[in-house]
Amino acid sequence: MRVLVTGGAGYIGSHTLLELMAQGHEVCVLDNYSNATPEVLTRVRTLSNGQVTDFTGDVRDANKLDEVMQAFQPDAVIHFAGLKAVGESTEKPLLYYDVNVAGTLSLLHAMDRAGCKKIIFSSSATVYGDPVYLPYDEAHPTNPTSVYGQTKLAAEKMLTAWTSAQPGTTAVLLRYFNPVGAHASTRLGEDPKDVPNNLMPFIAQVAVGKREALTVFGEDYDTPDGTGKRDYIHVVDLARAHVAALNYAVDHEGARPFNIGTGDSYSVRDMVAAFERASGRTIPTKLAGRRAGDIAEMQANASRAQTEMGWKATHTLDDMTASTWAWQAANPNGYINTD
Ligand code: WQD
Repeated sequence: MRVLVTGGAGYIGSHTLLELMAQGHEVCVLDNYSNATPEVLTRVRTLSNGQVTDFTGDVRDANKLDEVMQAFQPDAVIHFAGLKAVGESTEKPLLYYDVNVAGTLSLLHAMDRAGCKKIIFSSSATVYGDPVYLPYDEAHPTNPTSVYGQTKLAAEKMLTAWTSAQPGTTAVLLRYFNPVGAHASTRLGEDPKDVPNNLMPFIAQVAVGKREALTVFGEDYDTPDGTGKRDYIHVVDLARAHVAALNYAVDHEGARPFNIGTGDSYSVRDMVAAFERASGRTIPTKLAGRRAGDIAEMQANASRAQTEMGWKATHTLDDMTASTWAWQAANPNGYINTD
């Protein structure tokens, strides 16, 4: 298939490009490089030995979208382009609604104009909010606790309404849990622009000597060691979920959400211990209070993705930490000044 990948130069997008090309799909990227660099696509081209058409632009730009649609004529779109920082979303709610909701709206209009009927959407487990029960299945109530989560849920609802109104359209809503890890080549990985918000890139930067210690946000949760537990998923497994979703979209209509996680969860202390094993380095930690908005535990019931899309995570916790460490050690400054 011909697949337009918005946000294709990002962390998850870039890994997905490689998996798509490995399965014979043709890809085209639209990215505004607000949190990515063109160097990523250079590396994807080298790794795949394949062609990546790319356009620089924003999903809110209708003229740019028409130009891309006309030039590439996609059969489907994978829509990653969006903002994802929970804290920032509280400070800049209108920006988050603009990029994540109006951006998706703009994309759907352009797809309609071009007659493109299939979309895979980068959603988040954060749409569920405080757990009523765990593991979350897709029927769990959705009640996001952050503006970021609200924008993901609003986009899901828009996509669902779009498919209901137009027979022949498909929206696969992938609710990611906590993506971590890097490509086995060590050439692609997560490269946060500022101080990492997320646990794994922070630990990796401590291990490589860029930061002194990990701050553990709370040790008084109702979990075995008191630290927060999450369902971490290897980014390559996550990338493969998009290929499975594309295959699913070929012979399914309508909108359908899928949890993309492993079904296992690990605490902050588990992650530190696993990273110490992988890197052979000690990760100093210091304790702080709970981070606002955090919950004790998140865990996916990922059985729907397995039953209906034939997708299942295969990477272990050690694969996640070892690949993160290999990427961080080979690219201590991320994509900048590494070659
Ligand atoms: C994991 C655990 C922290 C940093 C966020 C978004 C979510 C999703 C992924 C996309 C928690 C603890 C963290 C640190 C710590 N994104 N921690 N010290 O909060 O589960 O999810 O990213 O959709 O929407 O909310 O991930 O990696 O920030 O935290 O102790 O420096 O690590 O308290 O228990 P989170 P995270």
